[in-house]
Amino acid sequence: MMNSLGVIPCDNEAMSAETASSSVNYLLGNPAESQQTRVLLLGSGELGREIAIELTRLGAFVIAADSYEYAPAMQIAQESHVLDMTDAAALNGLIAEVKPSIIIPEIEAIATAELAKAASNGMQVVPSSRIAAICMDREALRTLMHEKLGLPTTPYRFAGSFEELKAGTQAVGYPCVVKPVMSSSGHGQSVLRGDGDLESAWQEAQTGRRDVKEGGISRVIVEAFAPLDYELTMLTVSSSAGIVVCSPIGQRQEDGDYRESWQPAQVDSNVLKKAQEIARKAVGGLVDIAHENHERGWGVFGVELFMLKNGEVLFNEVSPRPHDTGMVTMISQHLSEFALHARAVLGIPVTEESVALSLKNSEVAASHAIVVSGHGQVTFTNIPKALSQPDTDLRIFGKPKVNGHRRMAVALATSHNEAGARKKAAQIEAALDITVTQ
Ligand SMILES: Nc1ncnc2c1ncn2[C@@H]1O[C@H](COP(=O)(O)OP(=O)(O)O)[C@@H](O)[C@H]1O
Ligand SMILES: [Mg+2]
Repeated sequence: MMNSLGVIPCDNEAMSAETASSSVNYLLGNPAESQQTRVLLLGSGELGREIAIELTRLGAFVIAADSYEYAPAMQIAQESHVLDMTDAAALNGLIAEVKPSIIIPEIEAIATAELAKAASNGMQVVPSSRIAAICMDREALRTLMHEKLGLPTTPYRFAGSFEELKAGTQAVGYPCVVKPVMSSSGHGQSVLRGDGDLESAWQEAQTGRRDVKEGGISRVIVEAFAPLDYELTMLTVSSSAGIVVCSPIGQRQEDGDYRESWQPAQVDSNVLKKAQEIARKAVGGLVDIAHENHERGWGVFGVELFMLKNGEVLFNEVSPRPHDTGMVTMISQHLSEFALHARAVLGIPVTEESVALSLKNSEVAASHAIVVSGHGQVTFTNIPKALSQPDTDLRIFGKPKVNGHRRMAVALATSHNEAGARKKAAQIEAALDITVTQ
């Protein structure tokens, strides 16, 4: 039941009947056709770029938005807009102007109240407006996952003042980690080893948080430092066919950002079962909330897990979108996380077969983030040599410039084991000539 824009009507009865049924039938194909499905991508980085590629392959009309021109996904999309997506009025204006059927947030820093309005006006917000709001807020997310769904997490407390922070550290013990409730990529986070670190951790959280412009005081989460053996990302897909989980992705983090990931990660079968169960429960709980709000809850989720030495598996957080560590799926799976996201969003069923690995025998795939430092425009040369080995690949994001550190590309490789794949991917970066010019 669609109107001329392919938008589901906002009438509540009609909407709940529509979301309860598992089928949609978006019009795809002719870019000149006014009824073609219009997808608004909020955030146009490297993940958005791959999502745009997959959506356009299926005949969608993609409108890319970000805070700067020539962002990676804008180089793919049919139309693009530059705006501050945290500015509610600007975002509202953009949605009214482009009239999308589907809105895909690619980043967290978005005026989520506008997404809720769009959803109540019948637009499909991915995976749902409520999910976007919950996942950007560590307090709402942790409360749902641990206190409502019963998932294991490291001990934690929330604090809205310096005194509460101090009480929180006493409750969870040292060492502990303090994070603003609204932040990503490690911003505003500190590890505390004793009372002497309290003051700087509070300051860091207040200045490194995402909503710093809004003034006031940011609430923080205080978490016991988990004795990590390693970390896993479980890409989990919610679609019209239900929920399926991809093979586990191992990862290495540095300075709050991922540097390497590999798939499938070697995990003991009992531990893997626990990890899959947590991923399913976490995404299932979010999708239930979407349904309560008559939204679909379709899309890829990146469930981050802490794997402890004693075999325990703890839920850390979840991205309601493709995950950066999941870039490895561009070489390891028949359908990458971006292709799966595009399919799920458009109402195409994603099944166990859809998430199968494309690797031969016991091969492993790896991704290696290419982070460039400096100030200016970045160019890559020596690519023929870098890609001279079989089973290697490279994605250059086309970001206009670097100012400090920035992930500019990713190297991909497969080999007979994890160490071999990681080494081969690292060799691609080593062979590249990367020039930064002012
Ligand atoms: N409680 C913790 N114990 C141990 N390491 C942690 C803890 N919290 C965060 N980290 C480390 O910091 C990284 C980033 O933290 P995370 O909570 O995932 O925030 P972000 O939103 O920045 O990704 C994690 O992937 C992990 O390596
Ligand atoms: Mg994280």
